[in-house]
This record gives sequence, C-alpha cells and structure tokens, in this order.
Amino acid sequence: MKKIVLIGSGNVATAFARNIKERDEVSSQYTILQVYSPNKTHAEELARQVGCEAISDSKLVRQDADLYLFAVKDAALEAVVAQIPTNEGMWVHTSGSMPMDVFTSRTNRYGVLYPLQTFSKGRYIPLCDVPLFLECHAEEDLPTLEALATSLSHQVHRLDSTQRRTLHLAAVFACNFANHLYALSANLLEAKGLSFEYLLPLIQETTAKLSHLSPREAQTGPAIRFDTNIIYKHLQMLEGNPSLQALYKQMSESIYNMYKG
Ligand SMILES: NC(=O)c1ccc[n+]([C@@H]2O[C@H](COP(=O)([O-])OP(=O)(O)OC[C@H]3O[C@@H](n4cnc5c(N)ncnc54)[C@H](OP(=O)(O)O)[C@@H]3O)[C@@H](O)[C@H]2O)c1
Repeated sequence: MKKIVLIGSGNVATAFARNIKERDEVSSQYTILQVYSPNKTHAEELARQVGCEAISDSKLVRQDADLYLFAVKDAALEAVVAQIPTNEGMWVHTSGSMPMDVFTSRTNRYGVLYPLQTFSKGRYIPLCDVPLFLECHAEEDLPTLEALATSLSHQVHRLDSTQRRTLHLAAVFACNFANHLYALSANLLEAKGLSFEYLLPLIQETTAKLSHLSPREAQTGPAIRFDTNIIYKHLQMLEGNPSLQALYKQMSESIYNMYKG
C-alpha cells in the first residue's frame, strides 16, 4: 500500500482525497496518512472525510510517505515547499502555471500532476475522465507518478512546464472567464427579477455543440452578424454600469475582429 500526505485542504486536495479514498480501485493501492493545512479547521474537515490525521503545523508532516501531493494556493506554493521537512518521498504539485522546479532546492524526487478540470469543494468529481498532465524530474520516478495517475484517470498525458502554462492560460479563458460571464449574466437577470435558470439550456447547448463544431464555427450573436442596432441598444442599457459596458464593447470587438473579412 502506497502512502500519501496531502498538503492543502481546498478544492483540489479534496477532489484527490475523495477519489483516492472512495474509489475501490484506488483505495486498494493508496492510503492517505495526513492532511496538512495551515487552517486547522480546514485540515480537520478534509481529514474527517477520508479518515486520516489532520495537522496544521508543517513540522509534523510525516516523513514516511511515498508521495507528497501539494495542492495549495499558487502564490503560497514556494513558501509551503520551503516549510515541509525533507524526506525520501516524491513531491508533486497540482498547479497549471507553477513550474516543476519550484521543488529543486528541497528534493531530487519531484514532479507535477495537473488535473485539467474545475473543482469546487462541495461537488464530487470522479477523476476517471479528467485529463491529468504529468511532469517528472527524474525518469526513474515516472513509474511512481504514472501509477497513481493511471489508477485515477484513463486520460494521462506528459507535458512540460511551458506547455502546461499555455494549457492553463487557455483554461482560464475557457472556464474561469466563461464562468465569470455567467455570474455577470446572473446579476443582470436578478436585478430585473428574472431567474438565471432560464439560461441553463442555452449554456448547456453552447458547451455541447463544441463536440461537433469548433468554437469559431459555433459563434452566434449580434457581434458576428454585425447587428449594430442591437449592439448600440445593449450599450445604452449598460450606461449605468460603465465597467460592464466596457466589457461588452471589448468582447463584441474581439468577436467582430475574428470574423471580419
Ligand atoms: N480549483 C481548480 O479548479 C483547480 C484545477 C486545477 C488545478 N488547480 C491548482 O490546484 C492548486 C490548489 O487550488 P485549489 O483550487 O484547491 O485552491 P483552494 O481551494 O483555494 O485551496 C488552497 C489551499 O492552499 C492553502 N493555503 C493558502 N494559503 C496558504 C499559505 N500561505 N500557506 C500554506 N497553505 C496555504 C489553503 O489552506 P487553508 O485553507 O488551511 O488556509 C488551502 O488548503 C493550485 O495550484 C491551483 O492552481 C486548481
């Protein structure tokens, strides 16, 4: 049985923890020893779900694990890596944009296990079909990382830090920005007493049709048709909200520029 210590207790740590604990094909091979997180309540919350020890003092991180999975805020990763006592295990982070060599000064056994999906703590996602992107410093450690990744997902790929950063940048546009636009839509609707649920079939089809059409082919709306009468009307409706008006203008220009002859 391989032993794992989870560093972090947020969205991604929770997704990995639950997949390791709750899927028989994974839990038969891996056990979680500890969850470390600076906020003790958060560490305890996740440790309770997977039945392991919770710690909030990095000095108490056990040294006998095979793998240390760092799923922490990107801005804190370097500081967290510096705090963890050295050990013989393999150190791996889950970040899209942090380089693999963030571990260089602490260990020779390190890599990356980046899951390309959006995770929220309250929502369980089986990792089976989630693409996992691996990077490994020492070739001899690749089997350790691949074994965990392939037990979790059918989609395992190797990708270096530069390519992974590009993937993450694209994911920020495709997921984080798209979701922010949903949130802005919800604000517009709710301000007029309308339900965001009306938009759900539209949002679902916007995504579903991408299995058959490229995003460029799938574009519709006033900007691609260059329906300036509607665009002006919408800009007028947003006069009380200059930042949203500017965003509408910039998005419409971006669409128009992609299709203009
Ligand atoms: N969420 C996603 O959809 C997603 C997808 C793919 C990859 N990732 C990557 O996975 C990593 C974790 O993301 P996440 O969404 O799980 O983040 P998150 O939910 O915000 O959790 C962040 C974790 O970092 C810890 N943390 C924050 N500040 C810290 C500090 N100064 N020192 C030590 N620990 C600190 C927090 O601990 P406390 O709660 O104890 O403060 C928490 O456990 C990031 O590298 C992210 O880029 C995220």
